[in-house]
Amino acid sequence: MARRSPFSLEGRTALVTGANTGIGQGIALALAEAGATIVAAGRSDMGETLGLIEAAGANAVPLQLDLQQPGVAAEAIAGAVAAAGPLDILVNNAGIIRRSDALEFSEADWDEVMNLNLKAAFFLSQAFAKAALAAGRGARIVNIASLLSFQGGIRVASYTASKSGLAGLTKLLACEWAAKGINVNAIAPGYIETNNTQALRADPERSTAILARIPAARWGQPSDIGGAAVFLASDAATYMHGAILPVDGGWLAR
Ligand SMILES: NC(=O)c1ccc[n+]([C@@H]2O[C@H](COP(=O)([O-])OP(=O)(O)OC[C@H]3O[C@@H](n4cnc5c(N)ncnc54)[C@H](OP(=O)(O)O)[C@@H]3O)[C@@H](O)[C@H]2O)c1
Repeated sequence: MARRSPFSLEGRTALVTGANTGIGQGIALALAEAGATIVAAGRSDMGETLGLIEAAGANAVPLQLDLQQPGVAAEAIAGAVAAAGPLDILVNNAGIIRRSDALEFSEADWDEVMNLNLKAAFFLSQAFAKAALAAGRGARIVNIASLLSFQGGIRVASYTASKSGLAGLTKLLACEWAAKGINVNAIAPGYIETNNTQALRADPERSTAILARIPAARWGQPSDIGGAAVFLASDAATYMHGAILPVDGGWLAR
């Protein structure tokens, strides 16, 4: 019998939030190509992602949810388990950004970003971990952090606060759950061509300055993030806990 690759996700089930587009779609497809069944969760239609996964010969089910709704986390995990069986992997990818000078930054732009990027990620992780521990299963959580988990940025106060907070939370949960068989790690994507960076790419000055600083000399694509997610979700990363893995074309090395 052929030896199982330590990177294989055959027989595993992954819940990916914000899987309809961008980095979430790239991660969902990469996990599916590595053998996982995907629960593609979010508030928009998942048709495109389901089509890509089916075309790759893998399985996915959609899960409609709005992570801004209070109390949604437990419902989301129960819904995912009902649709696809016990979960092995949670990818906290859904996230938003609001841009404004700090002097003008509104309370609404603070709350919306913090509620999705940080609060929803925490309570989904909590509900996911409870289910994994109750079922006696090991499990993986992959949070999608940011370069602004390490740097300050400009004009994105709540985003920087949320992503710096998510890095801290990744380390805290890793410390609490590592010995219980749950690995918690994060990926810090660099500048990736998605809806999130549309405003930056439309600003010729910002976009030229950003590109000039990227050693790889190009913006990233959602598919560039998939491999790191497969690694962190797989047996190859069994001894990894609390890492924030940059996938940034070399940005932080500069
Ligand atoms: N692009 C980058 O350069 C970059 C860099 C570092 C980190 N990130 C992070 O990567 C993650 C994905 O972002 P992206 O770049 O792929 O941007 P994106 O294309 O805007 O994707 C964001 C995803 O979050 C979902 N979402 C937003 N509000 C939601 C809600 N209330 N409930 C459920 N889902 C919701 C979106 O769904 P809808 O389509 O329905 O809005 C979408 O699927 C985010 O956490 C972002 O902060 C991105």
